[in-house]
Amino acid sequence: MKQRSYLALEDITVEFPTRGGTFCALDTINLSIDKGQFVALIGHSGCGKSTLLNAVAGLVKPTRGVIFLDGDVVDAPGPDRAVVFQDHSLLPWLTVEENVRLAVDKTSAGKSKGERKDWVMHNLDLVQMGHAAAKRPGELSGGMKQRVGIARAIAMNPRVLLMDEPFGALDALTRAALQDVVMELQARLNNTVLMITHDVDEAVLLADRVVMMTNGPAARIGEDRAVNIARPRNRLEAIDTADYADARHAVIHFLHERYRNPASLAA
Ligand SMILES: Nc1ncnc2c1ncn2[C@@H]1O[C@H](COP(=O)(O)OP(=O)(O)O)[C@@H](O)[C@H]1O
Ligand SMILES: [Mg+2]
Repeated sequence: MKQRSYLALEDITVEFPTRGGTFCALDTINLSIDKGQFVALIGHSGCGKSTLLNAVAGLVKPTRGVIFLDGDVVDAPGPDRAVVFQDHSLLPWLTVEENVRLAVDKTSAGKSKGERKDWVMHNLDLVQMGHAAAKRPGELSGGMKQRVGIARAIAMNPRVLLMDEPFGALDALTRAALQDVVMELQARLNNTVLMITHDVDEAVLLADRVVMMTNGPAARIGEDRAVNIARPRNRLEAIDTADYADARHAVIHFLHERYRNPASLAA
């Protein structure tokens, strides 16, 4: 029997019906991710990154192909695949603590009220938001809201953490602070992560592998490059390594070539 990776996308094709006919977004994507691996998915706007992530989340049904997670077929959304979106999607009428609590309640049957509260606070502390537990989303900055979104996702103890441009709406410095939070979490928890970004530095800094997608329609995986910077990572050390520079160079070249000449992708 073929040995499957922890997360395996096998021959995933996604087509959408449109008024003008069928639109093929993803064409026969194969992607294998090991347990504990952090994969960044990068590609030009509209290439199909969110479609791919949503297929793993169970929000988009592939036209063909199968997705396996730890041996189980993925065919619907589930708490084992927590998603962090660009828009934090917190409920504005609940406090920070209650927002996280809502997710924890879904995934902690058998735990007492006190245990759940402790778990919520533990996860808020991991993203340095314990101090804001009683605040409502409207009282928080964009970066703080994304921290809570991350706390909510990891509090569910997901098998895979999915992030769709989680820092896309933040200014550069806040974004860097959030990347540092993600690096710290990765050092502590070693989650399996699939993260979409269009930021080359973010991809190289955070990921063990950068998967580069070709432009759509019928997007495919163009290149798949390992980033061999030792973990745990620290921004200032990472950016001075040879592999940081090499990986960055490779990704920028890929994106630039593909942008100028999408036809060069055929093959
Ligand atoms: N529900 C849908 N119906 C029709 N076309 C869609 C749908 N969702 C996405 N698409 C199209 O699929 C392509 C990929 O979209 P998306 O995955 O959102 O790209 P990205 O996240 O890389 O910017 C785009 O051309 C988009 O217009
Ligand atoms: Mg998208």
